[in-house]
Amino acid sequence: MTEPGDTVAEVDWKAYEAEAIAAYEAASTLDELNDVNVRFLGRRADLPQSLRQVRDRETGKALNELRTRLEQAHQQAAQRIGSLGFAEALGESVDVTLPGERIPRGRLHPITQIRREVEDIFVGLGYEVVDGNEVETVEYIFDKLNMPEGHVTRSPLHTYYLSDDVVLRTETSASQVRTMEAKQPPVYMVSLGRVYRRDTPDPSHYPIFHQVEGLAVDKGITLADLKGTLQLLMRRLFGDERDVRLRTSFFPFTEPSVEADVSCFLCNQKGCRMCEYEGWIEVGGAGMVDPNVFQAVGYDPEEISGFAFGWGLERIFLLRHGLTDIRMLWQNDLRLLRQF
Ligand code: PHE
Repeated sequence: MTEPGDTVAEVDWKAYEAEAIAAYEAASTLDELNDVNVRFLGRRADLPQSLRQVRDRETGKALNELRTRLEQAHQQAAQRIGSLGFAEALGESVDVTLPGERIPRGRLHPITQIRREVEDIFVGLGYEVVDGNEVETVEYIFDKLNMPEGHVTRSPLHTYYLSDDVVLRTETSASQVRTMEAKQPPVYMVSLGRVYRRDTPDPSHYPIFHQVEGLAVDKGITLADLKGTLQLLMRRLFGDERDVRLRTSFFPFTEPSVEADVSCFLCNQKGCRMCEYEGWIEVGGAGMVDPNVFQAVGYDPEEISGFAFGWGLERIFLLRHGLTDIRMLWQNDLRLLRQF
């Protein structure tokens, strides 16, 4: 047993080391460990005292090595006890000034983000989100939507046919029909998803794109309700100042049919390239559900009325960010995707 205060020559360093190591290993709490440390490495302990007194190189080197071994024993004990601070427990091998390692974080594709945003807006209005079929029958995509025989979208030059009576859907509107067949009014639903058209890719066309279909059927629904709903959607997507204007148009399954425009959010209707100096930007088709469509699903057009709309999600996204080429949404270039 060594006594504090012994001089360098008097200390049995082998015994000192054995005793210290055993004590470090026996310590089971941070307080105990601290005591052990004071006893063997503290300011008044033999080792540090001797290190201060020592004059000859041999002894100095040996004692320094001993100190290193004891410090290691201390560190190991600290790690074992597991209650020292992070950097302390790891010792000086951690350089806290080094830049950290970046953990790459995934994100949703911009179209998925827009899709969820639009869904959230309508869920907030009490609409139900309905899944449609990407593979649809000619009956549901054309016949029940009041598309006359010989209508251009029935042509295989426009539509991908999987067989004589099955196609990749060209629009999400079939989901209206399926929803109305499945339930009685009132109906408030949106359906979002991919649609397919035989288009040659160019800045505003791509053979696959996404639509949001909306349908509201109830007693006494009017065109004003449609306008109000679209206005709310546009304000949520493009800012509170936005206005909506409806222009007459034609779709076989709506009567009257309209194209909806949103007031240009880039120039505030002063005229710019985005709105082609019109002050208005076209966003998509809509209208009051045609009585023929109601009859085909067994609804009584004398009893109820409804509006429907179908808009492209890519278009909403491109407009919102001032982008001009729809193809960039399908290239999966991370330099673009990482910005959203
Ligand atoms: N389905 C039409 C299209 O793809 C859009 C639309 C939907 C129009 C609903 C009116 C009502 O262009």
